[in-house]
Amino acid sequence: MSPVPSASPGGTLSGRIAIVTGASAGIGEAIARDFHAHGASIVINARRAEKLEQLAAYLGSRVAAVPGDAAEDSTITAMLDTARTKFGGGTREADLIIINAGRGLGGTVITSDISQWEEMIRTNVLAAAKLIRAAGQRLLKEQEGKQGEALLDRARDIIVLGSTVGRHVSPFSSMYGGTKFNVHGMVEGVRREIGPKGIRVSLIEPGFVVSEFQGVAGYDDAWLKGVWDRIGPVLKPEDVARTVSFIAQQPPAVHINDIMIRPTRQDYP
Ligand SMILES: NC(=O)c1ccc[n+]([C@@H]2O[C@H](COP(=O)([O-])OP(=O)(O)OC[C@H]3O[C@@H](n4cnc5c(N)ncnc54)[C@H](OP(=O)(O)O)[C@@H]3O)[C@@H](O)[C@H]2O)c1
Repeated sequence: MSPVPSASPGGTLSGRIAIVTGASAGIGEAIARDFHAHGASIVINARRAEKLEQLAAYLGSRVAAVPGDAAEDSTITAMLDTARTKFGGGTREADLIIINAGRGLGGTVITSDISQWEEMIRTNVLAAAKLIRAAGQRLLKEQEGKQGEALLDRARDIIVLGSTVGRHVSPFSSMYGGTKFNVHGMVEGVRREIGPKGIRVSLIEPGFVVSEFQGVAGYDDAWLKGVWDRIGPVLKPEDVARTVSFIAQQPPAVHINDIMIRPTRQDYP
């Protein structure tokens, strides 16, 4: 009987070159910590440079901070170039891209604060599309001239944070949910486009996760307390990070396309 192939040497992420956007807090920070613990080299991004530098200093080796707005072309180029020059010997591209930077918005299309729409769409949709495109183009270039199993010489991942409200459209956060609905569509389309070239494109759809998200979204405190009393305990960022890490650690020929993760008692969305 032949041995069962392991996910990667030691079952870890050692040798992988990761980029994590939105890594100064919440889910992104937890993913960066998890990846680092599993041996990956990581480029971390967010707008608050000081928080990023603190995380980089705490983790020590195998980390580079690239502060900036994830929707800016210059930030995207800097993240990809830093990964290649600092960790890829100047030739190998980042192969584990986590598109996590994002924000919520309390209220609906009818009731939410319209002055925040552009920033939310820019971060949740435009920044995601731009990084999928830029990273996808570089990874496709690496695959040029290869065929069949040679395309799976190592794992290559683009993993995007969606949301349960991007699938189960809810009447209480329809503007935010709309941005995630868009992202879900992009991810599945790009998966069909570049999966056959050996690049895995995955979606993770969390339910309620306690983080800075609720404050940034401006949720009504009484409403939130009512929801959490009913469905809690809610997820922690580490729960999502562990799941993202599981997707990334599959052997190159195995692709987990999509995972929904909720607090056990969350019935909806
Ligand atoms: N928490 C939830 O219940 C939940 C549920 C489902 C999906 N999600 C999704 O999960 C992702 C992470 O959310 P979270 O809960 O971890 O929220 P969080 O605690 O508020 O963290 C968001 C992160 O994104 C960064 N960020 C925001 N705008 C950015 C921009 N324009 N450029 C670069 N970085 C930016 C923030 O850092 P700076 O402020 O320093 O830039 C922060 O590091 C989001 O896409 C969110 O939609 C969250």
